Amino acid sequence: MNTNDPSFLKLNPDSITDGIGANFPDERSLEKLAREMFGVLQSFGGSNIPTNVLSSQNVQKETLPYLEDLKLTETGFSYSNFQSFPITNIPQSGGGNIVSARRDFPILTETVNGKPLVWLDNAATTQKPTSVIERLSHFYLHENSNIHRAAHTLAARSTDAYEKARSLVQGFIGAGSVEEIVFVRGTTEGINLLSNILSDKQIQAGDEILITHLEHHANIVPWQMVCAKKGAKLKVAPVDDSGQIILSEYERLLNSKTKIVSITQVSNALGTVVPVEEMTRSAHKVGALVIVDGAQSVSHMPVNVQEIDCDFFVFSGHKLFAPTGIGVVYGKKAILDSLPPWQGGGNMIKDVNFDHTTFQEAPFRFEAGTGNIADAVGLGAAIEYLNKFGMKQISAFEHDLLEYGTKELLKVPGLRLIGTAKDKAGVLSFVVNGFKTEEIGKRLAEEGIAVRAGHHCAQPILRRFGLESTVRPSLAFYNSCEDIDALIRVLFQLGSRNRIGI
Ligand code: ALA
Repeated sequence: MNTNDPSFLKLNPDSITDGIGANFPDERSLEKLAREMFGVLQSFGGSNIPTNVLSSQNVQKETLPYLEDLKLTETGFSYSNFQSFPITNIPQSGGGNIVSARRDFPILTETVNGKPLVWLDNAATTQKPTSVIERLSHFYLHENSNIHRAAHTLAARSTDAYEKARSLVQGFIGAGSVEEIVFVRGTTEGINLLSNILSDKQIQAGDEILITHLEHHANIVPWQMVCAKKGAKLKVAPVDDSGQIILSEYERLLNSKTKIVSITQVSNALGTVVPVEEMTRSAHKVGALVIVDGAQSVSHMPVNVQEIDCDFFVFSGHKLFAPTGIGVVYGKKAILDSLPPWQGGGNMIKDVNFDHTTFQEAPFRFEAGTGNIADAVGLGAAIEYLNKFGMKQISAFEHDLLEYGTKELLKVPGLRLIGTAKDKAGVLSFVVNGFKTEEIGKRLAEEGIAVRAGHHCAQPILRRFGLESTVRPSLAFYNSCEDIDALIRVLFQLGSRNRIGI
């Protein structure tokens, strides 16, 4: 066995002991012990399942792909015996009516301080449609079980639901196979997973990791940690005064020492849409691996990872109308299979002995332990919901809303828009002369309008514009021109209250 194989871990025999110097019992004697214990348990109680439950001739058998395909082995679940969900091709333009989409989000009928809630904090998190809320409830009412591990009906229902969600994600981002979709907790965990598994293999002292000035802290700090550990250098591609990457500078920073390029597709602080396709092409020319942070893009535009040709793509479910605590790492299959796991535990292994262990292939190698099953299913439901509209239609609708918002905001006296790139999505960051950003945030909150005011976990890019914070209304396709009008009304009233001087 090749011990450089990322799917294999072998320990030095001298490093294994049970603490009292005794040999480990062999598997046969352990099995004997288990049989004896089982006998004792049976003698206490035996089966207490009512016989009428056991005789179910009249009940129709469920069709559950997991159970149909199940070949229970010690190695657990594998796609080689589970091919039941077809690749989900998503419509780019669905037939759903966006104008009435708002009705699908029950929380949007809340009142705050007696005023209708205006939710303009979508870059922080999005609200959830009824179909997602009901899907979660259905899961806990009818399907809840651990996955991949058992031959009972609820295990089949939950495994099928979880794997269907994976296939929906695959279709949504245009990945080549379900095996390229790893479920994680969110974008931050995704980037930390990648920085951990890539650093040992990919990074040597003196190597370079290239990010951009636009990055969220989650795409800066993990790389700083890698650089500190491995003696590598962090390089930062600058932006121009509109907040767009200066491509010539980016190209200049790429060289044979660049091993990883990790770039956002849409800036959470400014809304800049970054030309990731072009940047990926250039990075590949010098042999670097490319990670695209899609946290702020997936809810606003169609994304196709094969067209971008990035090696990895990460996003969070909660910014895509799905629950918190679930996210995705896409990775090209061959690259994922060449990388070691990050966390060890159940689900990610093929075979465990005290002196050696073999790991599953992707995606399971990277899904140690019991994951967030219900919320992965919720993410699948969110994608099914979005597929009714199609991301092309959502993108066009939001583009108009962003243009309207930009035009109206610029009418507010003393307002400076931060982030004026030609290509933007979802975000309208601004400051107003003479007003603290938190003061504006609080004033808007009094009127039931939710925006984020602060540094947006992206301090370097705000400092590039000489600021520590901005007010950041951020859009989703359930917002309307009326929401923008409500925001603008309060901003116009600001001048008559609490002015601290221009
Ligand atoms: N990353 C999230 C934001 O931009 C929390 O607000």
